[in-house]
Amino acid sequence: MEYKITTNSESETMEIAQNIEADKFPNMIICLYGELGSGKTVFTKGFAQALGIEEVITSPTFTIIKEYDAEMPLYHMDLYRLNEMDDSINIEEYFDKKGVCIIEWADIIQDDLPEERLDIKIKIVDEDTRVMIITPYGQKYEELCEGVL
Ligand SMILES: Nc1ncnc2c1ncn2[C@@H]1O[C@H](COP(=O)(O)OP(=O)(O)O)[C@@H](O)[C@H]1O
Ligand SMILES: [Mg+2]
Repeated sequence: MEYKITTNSESETMEIAQNIEADKFPNMIICLYGELGSGKTVFTKGFAQALGIEEVITSPTFTIIKEYDAEMPLYHMDLYRLNEMDDSINIEEYFDKKGVCIIEWADIIQDDLPEERLDIKIKIVDEDTRVMIITPYGQKYEELCEGVL
């Protein structure tokens, strides 16, 4: 099962993130795929806002992982610049910290991703249009999609 959603603005993409946030659960994993400027960070901003995080969400390109404290914490990762030298960064340790992990460029650690997760591929159609292909893996994620998408 996959869901195909077209959004026509940054705020529509944020709205989708907010809908998904409404059914969040601890240790939730959201993997984002898509070229630079497709809207991965915009999605994360929408999700963070819904979590009640007031800090500005930036692309953590140089930090790899950024933690935001909230009732349910957010672990925002951007793996774009991850390379084999970074074996000190233990990404997997964040998967069961009871927060939500949102992973930009998740393809870079494809083999290490948990089997159960939400995959979101974002495609650029034109300046303001994006197609989001959302695929749930595992029952919890399937139910979440049925509920909010
Ligand atoms: N429908 C849309 N959804 C998300 N972002 C959009 C949309 N239309 C235009 N944009 C613009 O695309 C850019 C996406 O940037 P960003 O989220 O940082 O991309 P990424 O993190 O994937 O590199 C922003 O400048 C945003 O305003
Ligand atoms: Mg980004």
